[in-house]
Amino acid sequence: MSEPIIVGVDGSRAALAAVLWALDDAARRARDLRIVHVVAPSVHGGQPYERALDDAVREEGERMLAEAAALAAESRKDVRVSTELLYGNTTEILRAQAVDAAAVVVGSRGVDGFAGLLLGSVGLGLAGHVAGPVVVVHGAPAIVQGEIVAGVDPGDAVHPALDYAFEEARARGARVRVVHAWDVPAGRSGTETIAQATQERVRTVLTPWTKRQPGVAVTVSVVRGKPVAALCEASARADLVVVGSRGRGVIRSAVLGSVSHGVLHYAACPVAVVRPRVRTD
Ligand SMILES: Nc1ncnc2c1ncn2[C@@H]1O[C@H](COP(=O)(O)OP(=O)(O)OP(=O)(O)O)[C@@H](O)[C@H]1O
Ligand SMILES: [Mg+2]
Repeated sequence: MSEPIIVGVDGSRAALAAVLWALDDAARRARDLRIVHVVAPSVHGGQPYERALDDAVREEGERMLAEAAALAAESRKDVRVSTELLYGNTTEILRAQAVDAAAVVVGSRGVDGFAGLLLGSVGLGLAGHVAGPVVVVHGAPAIVQGEIVAGVDPGDAVHPALDYAFEEARARGARVRVVHAWDVPAGRSGTETIAQATQERVRTVLTPWTKRQPGVAVTVSVVRGKPVAALCEASARADLVVVGSRGRGVIRSAVLGSVSHGVLHYAACPVAVVRPRVRTD
């Protein structure tokens, strides 16, 4: 069987938005959907309680799963949906689930955060930590824009964001907008030449994807400025923004580059952070 799409729920509205996003994606990609809720085992005197004794917590978890499954069933009938209640640390369990998943989807926040929190600990603990796509869904789905934004740095050795962006675009019949932002100190001469050369480099990087997927329309936006600002601005007219987990600009031990981190917080649409399945470093 092909790997399912996993979505985590915690009873929050953001998680239900994530369920709907994951459900549509499962339909587009002919995958099953697995809805997961993770319960922390109660601890007493340092010992976890017997699971069976923890009835109230389990029932509450089952209720959340049933609510999410009912929403999915109401929304569409063409996806096989299962639910699973798991015990442990939410981030650790979802990381483990991601190993055999096509993608992991979560809400940008959940039930615990304070007012104004933009990104909860679960999205932050997954993005860049697991191989493959982690999708963080902000709020309810907006109107369909028909555009997938991919953030690309032509200096990177690999471009996992392009794989996922082109797959999503093909599955949706959408176009891809490749965004690259660059900057030099104000007043420096020769910026026209740099802009042209950068545009050329981005197009060269894109060639294998445009060849492989000739049916997907592509626009290249090479803009002068900060990458997070450029990508978040583009996100206002996109259905999804896709970024890699890190570029060459971060220290090697960092799991999430500053651009991915910023986009996860401020994008106006769902964000996919894609780490290559096979590490190249
Ligand atoms: N116990 C859980 N089981 C499964 N998925 C969860 C669980 N808790 C959160 N999630 C997923 O993660 C998303 C974000 O929730 P998260 O817990 O990160 O934010 P929060 O509750 O606002 O803040 P905090 O980081 O303080 O918990 C939720 O929308 C949901 O998709
Ligand atoms: Mg939480």
